[in-house]
Amino acid sequence: MCGIVGYIGKKDCVRFLVDGLKRVEYRGYDSAGIFVYREKDKRSTLVKNVGKIAELEKSIDSSVVGNIGIAHTRWATHGEPNHDNSHPHVSNNGSIYLVHNGIIENYTSLKKKLEKHGFSFYSETDTEILVNLIQLHYTGDIEKAVKEALLEVKGTYGIGVFSLNEPDKLIAARLGSPLLIGIGKNENYFASDPASVVKKTAEVVYMQDREIAVITKESVVHKTLDDEVLKKNIETIAFELSDIEKSGYDHFMLKEIFEQPKTITDSMRGRLLLEEGTTKLGGLSEHPEIYRALINAEKIYIVACGTSWHSALIGEYMLEEYAKIPVEVEYASEFRYRDPIITPKTVVIAISQSGETADTLAAIKEAKRKGAVVIGICNVVGSTISKETDAGVYLHAGPEIGVASTKAFTSQVIVLALITIDIARRKNLSFRQGYKMVKELKILPSLAESILENSNTIKEIAKKFSSARNFLYLGRGYNFPVALEGALKLKEISYIHAEGYPAAEMKHGPIALIDENMPVIFIAIKDTIYDKVVTNIKEVKARNGVVISIASYGDDEIDKISDYVIKIPDTTNLLSPVLTVIPLQLLAYYIAVEKRFNVDMPRNLAKSVTVE
Ligand code: F6R
Repeated sequence: MCGIVGYIGKKDCVRFLVDGLKRVEYRGYDSAGIFVYREKDKRSTLVKNVGKIAELEKSIDSSVVGNIGIAHTRWATHGEPNHDNSHPHVSNNGSIYLVHNGIIENYTSLKKKLEKHGFSFYSETDTEILVNLIQLHYTGDIEKAVKEALLEVKGTYGIGVFSLNEPDKLIAARLGSPLLIGIGKNENYFASDPASVVKKTAEVVYMQDREIAVITKESVVHKTLDDEVLKKNIETIAFELSDIEKSGYDHFMLKEIFEQPKTITDSMRGRLLLEEGTTKLGGLSEHPEIYRALINAEKIYIVACGTSWHSALIGEYMLEEYAKIPVEVEYASEFRYRDPIITPKTVVIAISQSGETADTLAAIKEAKRKGAVVIGICNVVGSTISKETDAGVYLHAGPEIGVASTKAFTSQVIVLALITIDIARRKNLSFRQGYKMVKELKILPSLAESILENSNTIKEIAKKFSSARNFLYLGRGYNFPVALEGALKLKEISYIHAEGYPAAEMKHGPIALIDENMPVIFIAIKDTIYDKVVTNIKEVKARNGVVISIASYGDDEIDKISDYVIKIPDTTNLLSPVLTVIPLQLLAYYIAVEKRFNVDMPRNLAKSVTVE
């Protein structure tokens, strides 16, 4: 949720820290701060400000200099966004500075303990407790003090620590919040996200839970909290700078919507075996025992949150229809606290774009505790979920920066289809059916492209409806989850109340809402339940509702019963969500732009929800 960045080297690092924060601003943007230390004259400066990083930048003048520094952009959990609550936090004696991503759950009891030792506090944050706990343990060795303090902590953290008494090093540590070390020449970095360091180095070491790193200009020593020295692999960041820039688009969200023909292609690259009428996923076939467990599973739980939960619902439809395995989709946040029945033949699939979502991670841990095989579907390479799962498949959709998830959703649907086809072909799906599906997958990017070419029609519709107060999204079968996703997109970035429903369910309640002020979006493509959806549209029209239909090219009938129609190409049923969602993403985007909202940084939201 928050983003942290640190630097130690010989150069002035203020620009690097501010740019590094900007790269992760999408993770949290209600306040930000920077602490820098200049070795040559022992000068230290702390600057913080409420609001976006641009506000922090305004407070940084030429007097802010240093060759060692730590920085933070915040998404408030403990205490409102104000100057005092912003990071970096400083200990009572003014010697230790800390940036922290995560939550210290036992901060109340730690606070009482510190108060007994005479500590006082200027903020409402759990982080200020931690920095003082480090001071309490400090006896001349900052590394030891951090370790001892962390052993007392319950919760999650990715931290960066600097001590004025030992200004030749930074300490980084993680438990449950992402953290990596960037390796440079006579300079090193830490960051919660590779995007912050990629301009300087592509070589990174991903830290794991309960690890600590002692970072100097020349070296990085990795240890466990119990002092065991670790040999860590240096990995190469899997994307380039251009992947995390807007490249001429007004917003990351728009760029990511328009990238979908490419990201869909990337998600299936090397995974289609047309000649055999099937698919192949290295991340699963390289783990034959795990994959066998999935193929022979008697029950699959798919756990996820938000948009990933919507793709999971589509996965349920696919896996049950073609792979013939019973599937239950659970909100990760519910799964972790219920008592799900896990038998030896139960497999859990966790879907997460970021690979860091706290609830999904906790659901995975719960499933593993109960003995389930857990398979991950993640976008971010090297993320915590990708490491915690027994095997998995990457989306290869590239960094998703827009807070509202778009390209990750379509890639998740693709990966779920690839898994379904492979399992189904090993069971009773014929070569002919498999071949047809793989052929459809191959042309899907060009079909997506044709929808994007029509974006102006959607923009015009958006203009007409930007002042609506409520929207209803209706779909059936594979497109019921798309209705949910369309409604979520609109809520997130335009703050318009929207609900998604299975179209037929409308008459069991929501129909009461329909009048001439209620736009109702129907996903009414020519599939097996098209006629039923048409009946639902007529029910809405009979009550003066305004109907916007997402329909198939060549369907002229729908024009007669809808007020507005967005035509899209047809594809096979299980892939249709990849196409039907695109107009809904665009509609949400254009409505939010029309309302002049900051699409990439919607209020109260943050990318990658690493708190419960
Ligand atoms: C919606 C959105 C969120 C995420 C959810 C799960 O646009 O971005 O609902 O889908 O927080 O995140 P991941 O997929 O990273 O686990």
